Amino acid sequence: MPEIFPLLKKQDIDNMVSSLAQRISDDYRGRKLVLVGILKGSFVFLSDLMRRLTIPVQVDFIGASSYGSSTSTSGNIHLTKKLEIDVKDKDVLIVEDIVDTGLTLSHIIEHIKSFTPKTVKICTLLDKPERREAKINIDYSCHVVVQKGFLVGYGLDYAEDYRNLPEICRLKF
Ligand code: IMP
Ligand code: MG
Repeated sequence: MPEIFPLLKKQDIDNMVSSLAQRISDDYRGRKLVLVGILKGSFVFLSDLMRRLTIPVQVDFIGASSYGSSTSTSGNIHLTKKLEIDVKDKDVLIVEDIVDTGLTLSHIIEHIKSFTPKTVKICTLLDKPERREAKINIDYSCHVVVQKGFLVGYGLDYAEDYRNLPEICRLKF
């Protein structure tokens, strides 16, 4: 079993999510937003974020998968759940748990743009730029991860385990 080391405590996460929700609410004041969470990892972050937004929102999810039980993206992304809300002419904010290579997100951005929304922006809990392969413009990020390593908890998994941890932790194999 890998060892687990805490990286961001519950209070740190709460503070980060609250200040991001404030920024987003300010930026979209007077508008209505469609939040599109990328399953499965984003669901914990999205549920905390949406309850702190002070603007009207709709919520949908898109399912994407590329990992087996390894710790690096294959680049071979397939959609496991489609959008149900018609996002044509709407303001869309994609909500991701962590952007690593960026391959998953770039695939999803193109997919969502094919429905001709008015705007598409990107919000991620964690930005891990070290292994970035696709050029992604991240509009909102709670925390940039500088150290190497694989993170779990607060929705993030390793082979489907650890999503329920309230803190964000680093795995040591
Ligand atoms: P990317 O396509 O390499 O950017 O990978 C993005 C997806 O891989 C994220 O949505 C996560 O689900 C997963 N992922 C990337 N890095 C980590 C990590 O450190 N822990 C858990 N999941 C990760
Ligand atoms: Mg994910």
